[in-house]
Amino acid sequence: HAHIDHATVAKVEAAIAARETHATIPDYETFATYRAAGGYDVLTALRGGSKTPDQVQDEVLESGLRGMGGAGFPSGKKWSFVRAADGPRYLAVNGDEGEPGTFKDRYVLERTPHTFLEGMLIAAWAVEATTCYIYMRDEYPAVLHILAEEIAALEDAGIVEAGYIDLRRGAGAYICGEESAMIESIEGKRGLPRHRPPYVAQVGIFDRPTLVHNVETLHWIARICREGAGVFADYGINGRKGMRAYSLSGRVANPGVYIVDAGHTIAELIELAGGMAEGHEFYAYQPGGPSSGLLPASMADTPLDFDTLQPHGTFIGSAAVVVLGHQDRARDAALNMLRFFEDESCGQCTPCRVGCEKAVKLMQAETWDGALLEELSTLMVDSSICGLGQAAPNPIRMVLKHFADEV
Ligand code: NAI
Ligand code: SF4
Repeated sequence: HAHIDHATVAKVEAAIAARETHATIPDYETFATYRAAGGYDVLTALRGGSKTPDQVQDEVLESGLRGMGGAGFPSGKKWSFVRAADGPRYLAVNGDEGEPGTFKDRYVLERTPHTFLEGMLIAAWAVEATTCYIYMRDEYPAVLHILAEEIAALEDAGIVEAGYIDLRRGAGAYICGEESAMIESIEGKRGLPRHRPPYVAQVGIFDRPTLVHNVETLHWIARICREGAGVFADYGINGRKGMRAYSLSGRVANPGVYIVDAGHTIAELIELAGGMAEGHEFYAYQPGGPSSGLLPASMADTPLDFDTLQPHGTFIGSAAVVVLGHQDRARDAALNMLRFFEDESCGQCTPCRVGCEKAVKLMQAETWDGALLEELSTLMVDSSICGLGQAAPNPIRMVLKHFADEV
């Protein structure tokens, strides 16, 4: 008995259309240009039997590529989990780049969408996916426009059948970037994270085995297949291996995406970005999204990569690096992060729904009740269903540890 308010639907559709019309479409590599330069030759050869999925999987594993959405799970390994489960299987691209400070997927998609699309089709070939779902952040209207155009070009060229790539729009919920919530959303339901196990590799979209990859990961898969594992594996500094796309913002002279060797320290990144913005002295930084919390400027010589930040109780995540200056306060930034989590909590479990709200209230006190905040943090980490609630206390803990004089 659902009541459809046609006037409202028309209004929303008009607003969406207006936004798309006003999106600035950047110059990007179109299908014709990419194909003329040998694009999709690798995919065509693989489909023709040039290599087995096992061989390609080994190449990807050998390159050391790990999930660039932020969790760093070895990319090739996922393929074997999905292939081990009976078909039909699906592939889902997580393009819901919602981590505050992360904009690297957008950078890739607005420049070289076909490298990503070919990587996706190679991964889909490897696991024999029957449909590829692209779950794309709706706040990226130019990207949606580009993908719609270029998917149509792939269909026209006969590289995919009509409907094989299903482009889905997110609706602005941070939690829908959590892979199981994304899958619920793709299924047409409210984006509530699922309990794991079972992992989505076994029980994903419509309960079928599903390969989930981030946009940048697929970009690298295409490049590794085309240019060899060395295009990724031969890079890295400060003892690290691979490439990283750092989204660098905050008080630096030239914020932006820096696609450079993995293992850059924050000091080196600030130098790459032309130093600090005028009038600011380096004070603190967020190494990888709000769930990674904040580190003080005194820890400026740690290589920023998977695993290297564990001794400091944090992680690189999606490499969303935000630099704070001496006029900023870590406690304000942390409060801002907790407000974000409070707002974005899906509300499904009490420790996260109520915990974020309580934390925000406690953090507004002039002097923090450290013991109580610590107790609350432990509860949230131990008993929240998904990563949002489990990681939300990180900014609190890191302010208590590294910026105690502020609170
Ligand atoms: P996770 O470690 O739970 O999982 C990573 C991936 O490996 C998932 O695809 C999962 O299904 C798979 N996996 C893990 N263990 C498995 C097993 N035993 N069998 C089969 N598959 C397995 O991490 P999660 O929660 O997916 O991601 C957390 C990260 O996401 C954080 O580091 C955070 O920085 C990042 N993040 C990135 C955002 C962005 O906009 N790029 C937004 C929010 C968070
Ligand atoms: Fe939802 Fe938070 Fe629970 Fe995750 S931890 S399921 S976001 S309430």
